[in-house]
Amino acid sequence: MAHADTVARLTTLRNEIRRHDNLYYVKDKPEISDTEYDRLFRELIDLERRHPDLVTPDSPTQRVGAPPLEELVKVPHEQPMLSLDSIIDQSEVQAFDQRMKRELETSSVEYSAEPKFDGLSVELRYDHGIFTRGATRGDGTTGEDVTINLRTIRSLPLQLHVQSGFPDHLVVRGEVYMRLDDFQALNRRMTERGDDAFANPRNAASGSLRQLDSTITATRPLVVTCYEIMAASTPVPPTHWDELEMLAQWGLPVPVLRRLCASIDEVMAFHRDTESMRDQLPYEIDGVVVKVNRLEWQARLGMKSRSPRWAIAYKFTPRKEITIVQDIAVSVGRTGTLTPVALLKPVEVGGVTISRATLHNADEVARKDIRVGDTVKVERAGDVIPAVAERVPVPGEQRSPPFCMPDHCPVCGSKVGREGAYFYCTGQLVCGAQLKGAIEHFASKHALNIEGLGKKTVAQLVDEGLVRSLGDLYRLTKADLVQLEGFADRSATLLLESIAGSKTVSLDRFLMGLGIRQVGQHIAKVLAREFSSLEEIMSADRERFQQIREVGPEISESLVAYWSEPRNRDVITQLQGSGVQVAPGMGVHDRRESPLTGQTFVFTGGLDRFTRDEAQRAVEAAGARVASSVSKKTSYLVVGRDPGSKLDQARALGVTVLTEQDFAALIGKDGKGLSSRG
Ligand code: IVH
Repeated sequence: MAHADTVARLTTLRNEIRRHDNLYYVKDKPEISDTEYDRLFRELIDLERRHPDLVTPDSPTQRVGAPPLEELVKVPHEQPMLSLDSIIDQSEVQAFDQRMKRELETSSVEYSAEPKFDGLSVELRYDHGIFTRGATRGDGTTGEDVTINLRTIRSLPLQLHVQSGFPDHLVVRGEVYMRLDDFQALNRRMTERGDDAFANPRNAASGSLRQLDSTITATRPLVVTCYEIMAASTPVPPTHWDELEMLAQWGLPVPVLRRLCASIDEVMAFHRDTESMRDQLPYEIDGVVVKVNRLEWQARLGMKSRSPRWAIAYKFTPRKEITIVQDIAVSVGRTGTLTPVALLKPVEVGGVTISRATLHNADEVARKDIRVGDTVKVERAGDVIPAVAERVPVPGEQRSPPFCMPDHCPVCGSKVGREGAYFYCTGQLVCGAQLKGAIEHFASKHALNIEGLGKKTVAQLVDEGLVRSLGDLYRLTKADLVQLEGFADRSATLLLESIAGSKTVSLDRFLMGLGIRQVGQHIAKVLAREFSSLEEIMSADRERFQQIREVGPEISESLVAYWSEPRNRDVITQLQGSGVQVAPGMGVHDRRESPLTGQTFVFTGGLDRFTRDEAQRAVEAAGARVASSVSKKTSYLVVGRDPGSKLDQARALGVTVLTEQDFAALIGKDGKGLSSRG
């Protein structure tokens, strides 16, 4: 392609992608399928890769994140970012209206009302229509520069719409938040990975935006909505309502649920209407913001030290209700974590009847001092799982003894282990609550690597009662399998073959498969190297484990707790009885190892299709590892956009250099990219 044609094609692609981003993320009216969108995106990535000099900072490809920062830089706001006074009673709204009328010496005031989003406030700056800087509110005078993180938010235009003409300099205020369904999915992903879940969507939004590594932000489903022009180099419309219209014309997302109210009665109606749909909204709001519509009047009313006189946050009744704790039960999760749950006298909170609420963990129960019989406040805050917020002391009440976590698992009776505030059932392989998780883990790639035994099949086998313990896997017959939905003669044969094929297994894989806490792939290998047989490991004591350099007190503790549970030993006996043979040492020459096992990857430059995290996980999933610097031991250097000095080092050392595309192909991930929406 001639240079001019390339430039033209790049412009067309970028404009098209921006238009579709706006239709999809802002207007909620997509015109093309995700596949078509991905095709456009991929074409842009390819073209930019071939012409790195033509990559512009406002290109949609630049949303994927930049190298991590040392810290978030403090930046002064152009205008102070005020906060709002909040009220909750009707009488206070009436009083607000009276005050406005009195100060403006008028008999009627028009208001613009919109939801109060439960997120975090940001300042967005556009110079010549290009998004140049974004900051958090901070203390109102100084915030943190989160520009590169904001760039990853798809509903935020990196460029304003030209057709509508915009001021050369524009500062807008908005709110960054997370939708409830996205929040729940994110928390699910976090807990599956063993990370702590966020308490509510607001914390999730804040934690995601204030990341040092913007590639992490890029994977977080943040959205933004704008509600104020804070500064502009050209005159702005005369009312707040028109201001929102103007923002929308520039391509900025604005609150959809807004109402122009001719009187305070209409404001109250809007408050009522909005509160009644609160639970159906896909995002969390905690009230409505009422603003005097005429900007000239706003200016006349002015501000107090921290808040404007012309606006008010009219909050909803908090979704907290008082009830009684009838009992405290303990539930066991898929990974064996014990969670105390308050069984409540049923109470309606925000339109939903609640009879159970989580108490999170033993420390929380102790901190809030919640006991059976107590009067408590329960809340549904953002997250759908209700929680006990606090105890309400009742004068003269007779309290029961403090709550204690059980010594034995309420589901399977195995002993309970402890790691800090977390208690867990040590009977991983025998506990009904953990059985599915335990089998999936046992069958997983780095453990017994039983192909065809994925989540769905495991669920079927357990739900149908065909597998009650790991040993049962080896007793399955074709007749058992073909009765399951989705199984035919051939698929049943294949699964039985791969189960049979896992009967001889190296010690490290077997240990890994048991799912002993703190014993992942690495420690399993360390143990397999150190001990000559499974029996030796089973009879080792704490001191023996601690002699190993990589094994600290927590790991030793976990190993000892595991082997001291007779039921875990029974599982091993059963497995051995079913013909499973654990070969001493490590499975270095294991036929199931991938060709990348043991290789070392180093990355340099920005990746388009993967976050660094995803790339790392893919490498590790293939049995290889990621290092931070190039050396003679490096197997591959993966080169992204704007590579650093590592590329020269790699060339000097003769290390194989891969493009991102080569890398994707090598790990079998080509065709799957981050450009995908959602
Ligand atoms: S207007 C000077 N409008 O509420 C007026 N604020 O309690 C500035 N908020 O820090 C705020 N939704 O983060 C405004 N539609 C909305 C809002 C909103 C949420 C937040 C904002 C502010 C806090 C004040």
